[in-house]
Amino acid sequence: MGRKEPAPDGLRRRRSTPLSSTVIRSLPSNRWDDYRNLRLESLKSDPSAFGTSFEEEEILTEAEWKRRMKNVLFAVSEDMSVGMIGYLFNERVKKKHIAELIGVYVTANHRGEGIGTKMLESALSSIRKNKAIVKVQLLVNPEQRAAVNVYEKFGFVVIGVLKKELKVGRKFYDVLFMEKML
Ligand SMILES: CC(C)(COP(=O)(O)OP(=O)(O)OC[C@H]1O[C@@H](n2cnc3c(N)ncnc32)[C@H](O)[C@@H]1OP(=O)(O)O)[C@@H](O)C(=O)NCCC(=O)NCCS
Repeated sequence: MGRKEPAPDGLRRRRSTPLSSTVIRSLPSNRWDDYRNLRLESLKSDPSAFGTSFEEEEILTEAEWKRRMKNVLFAVSEDMSVGMIGYLFNERVKKKHIAELIGVYVTANHRGEGIGTKMLESALSSIRKNKAIVKVQLLVNPEQRAAVNVYEKFGFVVIGVLKKELKVGRKFYDVLFMEKML
């Protein structure tokens, strides 16, 4: 039997869970604690990847989590929420053609399985159903290499750099402003 050559990027690749068993979908409001748990986990594990802090969100009410999760798609594997992606439509009259991706996260032990890619596909397909939308924007810390790579894979381009946009602890971070025309 021939020995299998490892993929060139094999070191960072794990395909422990078959991607086909992970479904991207919205969750009913009675599963708001799935959202809360995953969101608080993300703010704790990757604080410099997001614009808000654990302390700010830890105190949100049940009603607020329920309101926010209406705009979120979840990656569900064996009935567990292992990832999420949010999208918003700008409500201002002159900006109703713009959508925004927010809160993109895959739990650490499921990264590299293709879930992020699958979530992006689903979110963009949901956004496209709104025929008014002509472009999608997002903000990302360039230190989140996997995130930048996945966005570039979907055709997002860097429009500009917001200098010292985030301060986490004592450290400042620049943030990339990216967009994709639909
Ligand atoms: C960004 C994130 C959601 C990607 O999720 P994922 O399920 O691991 O992504 P995928 O397995 O679909 O990989 C998507 C692409 O990301 C890139 N990528 C994945 N892992 C990577 C790594 N460790 N290093 C560099 N690039 C990586 C690759 O370009 C990959 O595409 P490819 O498989 O065609 O080569 C996940 O890494 C994450 O939650 N990171 C922490 C939070 C974060 O940075 N969120 C973004 C906020 S803007």
